[in-house]
Amino acid sequence: MHHPDPHSYYDSAQPKARRLRLKLGVDFTSKRIDGEVGLEFGGAVSGPLDLDTKGLEIHSVQVPGRGPIPWELGPSDTILGQRLRLDMPEGAQEVTITYTTAVDAMALQWLDPEQTEGKVAPYLFSQCQQIHARTMVPCQDTPLVRIAYKAEVNVPEGLTAVMSAGPTGDEALGNGRHVYRFAMPQPIPSYLLALAVGRLESRDLSPRARVWAEPETVAAAAWEFAGVEDMILKAEGLFGPYPWDRYDMLVLPPSFPYGGMENPRMTFLTPTLLAGDRSLVDVVAHELAHSWTGNLVTNASMEHFWLNEGFTVWAERRILRILHGDDAAALGWAMGQKALEDSLEQFKNEPRLTVLRMHLAGIDPDDAFSSIPYEKGARLVAALEREVGEERFLRFLRDYMDAFRFTSITTEQFCSFVAAKLPGALEAVNARAYLDKPGMPDTAPEFRSVQLDTLTVLAESWPDGGRPSAYQIASWKPTELLVFLQKLPRKLTHADCAWLDEHFQLMGRGNYEILVEWLTLAATADYEPAFPRIREVLLRVGRMKYLRPLYSALGLHPRTRALAREVFAAASPGYHGLSRRVVQGVLEKFLA
Ligand code: BES
Ligand code: ZN
Repeated sequence: MHHPDPHSYYDSAQPKARRLRLKLGVDFTSKRIDGEVGLEFGGAVSGPLDLDTKGLEIHSVQVPGRGPIPWELGPSDTILGQRLRLDMPEGAQEVTITYTTAVDAMALQWLDPEQTEGKVAPYLFSQCQQIHARTMVPCQDTPLVRIAYKAEVNVPEGLTAVMSAGPTGDEALGNGRHVYRFAMPQPIPSYLLALAVGRLESRDLSPRARVWAEPETVAAAAWEFAGVEDMILKAEGLFGPYPWDRYDMLVLPPSFPYGGMENPRMTFLTPTLLAGDRSLVDVVAHELAHSWTGNLVTNASMEHFWLNEGFTVWAERRILRILHGDDAAALGWAMGQKALEDSLEQFKNEPRLTVLRMHLAGIDPDDAFSSIPYEKGARLVAALEREVGEERFLRFLRDYMDAFRFTSITTEQFCSFVAAKLPGALEAVNARAYLDKPGMPDTAPEFRSVQLDTLTVLAESWPDGGRPSAYQIASWKPTELLVFLQKLPRKLTHADCAWLDEHFQLMGRGNYEILVEWLTLAATADYEPAFPRIREVLLRVGRMKYLRPLYSALGLHPRTRALAREVFAAASPGYHGLSRRVVQGVLEKFLA
């Protein structure tokens, strides 16, 4: 018995599934999916086969043409769920399982019409990363196993289904139901399985890119992301031809718990990116970059998550540098620095979660999540790039992607490859300090620009009366204002808050990065005029990146604590299960 991924019952002595055939019946009334999955092995197999499931009700397990076979569900582990052990008969090449998902399946959020923009139809979306695919489909739920898939999704007439796959047709069944078919021909890890069903429309942005959203937001989405083809071209210039055919995007309802999710052929995005000025498209650059770093070359398990995210953050800023110049990239690194410092603070009592090469047996990967694999990881990549020079590093990256395309690798495999291709580089940047030591090495690269220095000096002079000039107030771009706010001292007076709001009109900002940074400062200062806006944001948005700092700041004063309690009671039924868990964790610290 060998379990190479601590978050899966997958046994590497057993055969790997190669393809899935999915039939998913989406029932908005019971909030369940009735599923049938066929696992194909690409050859004859036999003996025990262990799959991951969580909360699934298993109805039947059959080998086509040979009837039912024995199966057994193991005890339930709070993190892993239940092992489903099948006993495959000699020579079987595939197996078919019918099942129903649980009402509280973590991968699925079922929205009532009121939680959508249009307020007329329900909505369903999935989020399988890290280990939630097993709540939607019984499978070998580890990135070590890659599968191609075909799917047939049966939904109420009038709703549209999209998946992390190419559409291959749809038809009305005449009974009030509609079937959508999909194919994903390239092998993907299970965490990239994705489905959304709702009232959806699309707009073409280029011959290979399109954006989907509810009819009410699709025009705004098309405008916001109009530059995506340019990004794809720039990314191709860095990493080689785009490997997934189409790059489509779906803008979800506001409860979507992440900023973006790199589902192949269908990036999922939070509607909080629709700032109206294209100032938040770095998230699209990030998800697009995952097409290479993450989806093409994939982490072998969550213990190597930095290989996905650190590389992707580095790639995202590399793309932004080409599109918007060095200053813009430096501001990106500065915002990352703030996130990194916040995460190091958050995990100051858990140093083992601040290393890149993590050891996660017994730890829920969602609890290990932070900006550290992103920002510390990106700094290791940048350090290697600085060490060997940009050109040589890009050539190395192309080799890396060729060598490992459509495979899932460990930190150790990455290091051996670097050692072979860039001898001495790991030692020169002290890679071990990033990979195995907590905190940040003091040799980590710094990113500076004149503009960043100006903003830093000005923000730090706030207690001595330093204030932005009328010219600065009028001319700063959104990211400049954001960096300034991030660098302000946390302790502001009510007069400071009033000054900031009056001069920057912060309360009415449509850019959620700025709005939430401001509201966090205001909550920290116990600044009552901001309370109604804080309530509004927390009731509308489920993105964890915003909920965590806002609720944490509300913990600081008696009346903001009361506000937090009241808002959470009202908002939590609308939050995604993941978001609810994160907020509960924050609240437990101050609402005893
Ligand atoms: N793959 C992540 C989202 C994710 C991570 C989902 C871990 C589940 C578990 C995605 O690519 C991401 O990093 N999104 C960021 C965007 C950003 C760093 C620009 C987000 O959601 O904020
Ligand atoms: Zn990412």
